[in-house]
Amino acid sequence: MDDEMDQYSQLSKEFDRVGLTDLFEGISVAGDRFYVVERLFASGKVNQEYRGLLRLLYLGESVAQVNLKPFFELIQLLADAGIVILEDGIVNSTGLVLNRYRGVWIVADAPQSNPKRYFGPDSLGLARRLSPRPGKKGLDLCAGSGIQSLIMAAGGMTVTSVEINAETCATNVLNAKLNGLDGAIQTVQGNLYEKLEPDGKYDYIVANPPLVPIPNGLEYPFVGDGGFDGCRVSNEIVEKLPVYLSDDGTALMVGMMACADNDSLDAVSLVQAIMNSDLSGTMSLLGYDEIYPCSSLVEGVAWSAYLANPTRWTSVDEAIDEIYELYRNDHTVGVYYYVLRLRKNDPLDQGLKIIDNSNKKPCSEAWLI
Ligand SMILES: C[S@@+](CC[C@H](N)C(=O)[O-])C[C@H]1O[C@@H](n2cnc3c(N)ncnc32)[C@H](O)[C@@H]1O
Repeated sequence: MDDEMDQYSQLSKEFDRVGLTDLFEGISVAGDRFYVVERLFASGKVNQEYRGLLRLLYLGESVAQVNLKPFFELIQLLADAGIVILEDGIVNSTGLVLNRYRGVWIVADAPQSNPKRYFGPDSLGLARRLSPRPGKKGLDLCAGSGIQSLIMAAGGMTVTSVEINAETCATNVLNAKLNGLDGAIQTVQGNLYEKLEPDGKYDYIVANPPLVPIPNGLEYPFVGDGGFDGCRVSNEIVEKLPVYLSDDGTALMVGMMACADNDSLDAVSLVQAIMNSDLSGTMSLLGYDEIYPCSSLVEGVAWSAYLANPTRWTSVDEAIDEIYELYRNDHTVGVYYYVLRLRKNDPLDQGLKIIDNSNKKPCSEAWLI
């Protein structure tokens, strides 16, 4: 156990020693990584020997060992931790990349069509809004690689990090160790609240659940599939929030919700679930995507569905046409991007206040006005 702890603390010290921490602190984790790197290299920034390191650890590409000579110790430690594989003079990526955000390291899948160790724009949409409360208890539902758990624990909280997928849980544990936060984070493999103590109470419950509205009849990667209106998992989370939230606790979630022709937002299942609960708070709408054949949402969903299941359509255009029709069959005309803050019923501030600052315009970046 001590040897293992040593291994991870050595790795994190080595990140500092070779300057990787400061390099990664300075690189965006949002947006197209290939574009970020291309722009960086074209600008003449980043020393030659660090370029190989970025290709390996930021893009998830394989790199010849000879091009990583100054980083012999680092590569060895990364291989020992299972983050890269050394083979015949090549340092092969395992598909995992490094991210640095709000002072913590997050190992997660490189962008791909069907990620299990997810890290994406919605991860940041929630992570950027977290306000850790030292000494308090946090619960991270649908924790994935653990970005939100890590930020809460680094801020002095003790955290229960719940994730359903075993492989993802292993990366969640690795990330806790890599950041020296495994004493503060308990990773639990399970379905939402099922493995928690029935009388457990948490001061801060956060969630970035599968949230993309996926029309009925479409198969979509599990990490993103929020059901036809995007609220399938969020509804389950909200239903039991009053049981697990401490009396003065707060919940913070991000999500997307589909709306139908002519219906007011009160008809959305998540809004109804909150209205019918003992919870109150705000739902801020920050962006909106209209559903039409080439809208960014339909195109994005079509690309992900196509790459995850390439034999179903002969081209992405065919996927776009079918998926647009499927949305229309569900009467979905648009999708909102929201941030939800909930408390247990406060006699002075009852119900759900919906604050629409989207004016039905897209987000500038995910969950950014
Ligand atoms: C959109 S990802 C978010 C991961 C992480 N919180 C982040 O922001 O990067 C959703 C995660 O929820 C997990 N998940 C889906 N359904 C779940 C459930 N019922 N209980 C626990 N985890 C679940 C998925 O495996 C996936 O890792």
